[in-house]
Amino acid sequence: MTLVLGIESSCDETAAALVTDDACVGRRILAQRISSQDAEHAPYGGVVPEIAARAHAMRLAPLIAGTLADAGLSLDDVDAIAATAGPGLIGGVMVGLVTAKALAMASGKPLIAVNHLEGHALSPRLADATLEYPYLLLLASGGHCQLLRVGGVGQYRRLATTIDDALGEAFDKTAKILGLGYPGGPAVERLALSGNPRAVPLPRPLKGSAEPHFSFAGLKSAVMRAAETGVHSAADLAASFQAAAIDCVLDRTARAITAAGPVSALVVAGGVAANQAMRGALAGLAGAHGLRFVAPPMALCTDNGAMIAWAGVERFALGLVDGLDVAARPRWPLDPDALPARGAGVKA
Ligand code: KG4
Ligand code: ZN
Repeated sequence: MTLVLGIESSCDETAAALVTDDACVGRRILAQRISSQDAEHAPYGGVVPEIAARAHAMRLAPLIAGTLADAGLSLDDVDAIAATAGPGLIGGVMVGLVTAKALAMASGKPLIAVNHLEGHALSPRLADATLEYPYLLLLASGGHCQLLRVGGVGQYRRLATTIDDALGEAFDKTAKILGLGYPGGPAVERLALSGNPRAVPLPRPLKGSAEPHFSFAGLKSAVMRAAETGVHSAADLAASFQAAAIDCVLDRTARAITAAGPVSALVVAGGVAANQAMRGALAGLAGAHGLRFVAPPMALCTDNGAMIAWAGVERFALGLVDGLDVAARPRWPLDPDALPARGAGVKA
């Protein structure tokens, strides 16, 4: 049996979890706590890094103590302490990583520095023990939109990325245009339910292009221009945006299925994987290609401590632990060998 404490603080969720992999009971979350900073950042329409780092610093230690108390466990019981070491907002990442180092020093337990994206990438295996490597992963969050062939822990081949905005970012910006507030993804999805997805003609950037890369900046601008005309309802704009985004994702993912070679499943992870319409559309695509479709439960899609703890469990099983001098990294690609996508600009 392996028991790992996971800590997540790379964006605006302060989170901790205790996750076990046990021969008898399987893969389980024994306890988890998440403290969202939505209220702090909402007035600014997005995450303010300085506010996020301060909030993590205030909340993390009591949150970890509470998580251990919920499970009736102490640090003596864990095998390792895993924390997000990047990529993300560096102030928050440092709070989580330094806290993990202090706990590792005090308890004598090994430290595991986890790539936040690896946390998302492996999280479907926490919920579904039958999911085997290799699988094709659509990783769609607020900061990333990538298609990856996941061959095992640390074995990631990036097949595609976005040349401009991430998919979650496009949802958040659309929400802002429609006056829905932050975080935007769930609000756009809710409003889209009452709109007509064919009401507003919107572009499908890169649809049909040979490489499976993504682009969402033009779609966002088109939503803004359509909103400015004043002729469309917010619900129709939300529904039409979501339909266009899903259309692009299906086209790009279909390309990647061809490029990936044999895989066990099509898997979706990251915050946007919480979108029901997206999940349904991807399930249909997987079925059409004779592939299994796996999506983690909604609570495992958006940032959480359990995905970091689970990545820690997988790393610990392979003896992959880190020294106390490991650095926090604002950027940390899963596939360092991937070339920049053609056409990709430098983002502000
Ligand atoms: O993975 P995540 O929690 O944080 C990052 O690592 O970025 O993803 C957050 C992103 C946000 O952009 C949020 O708007 C989006 O995921 N998101 C959604 C939904 N729930 C969260 N996008 C579309 N539909 C949703 N239901
Ligand atoms: Zn994330």
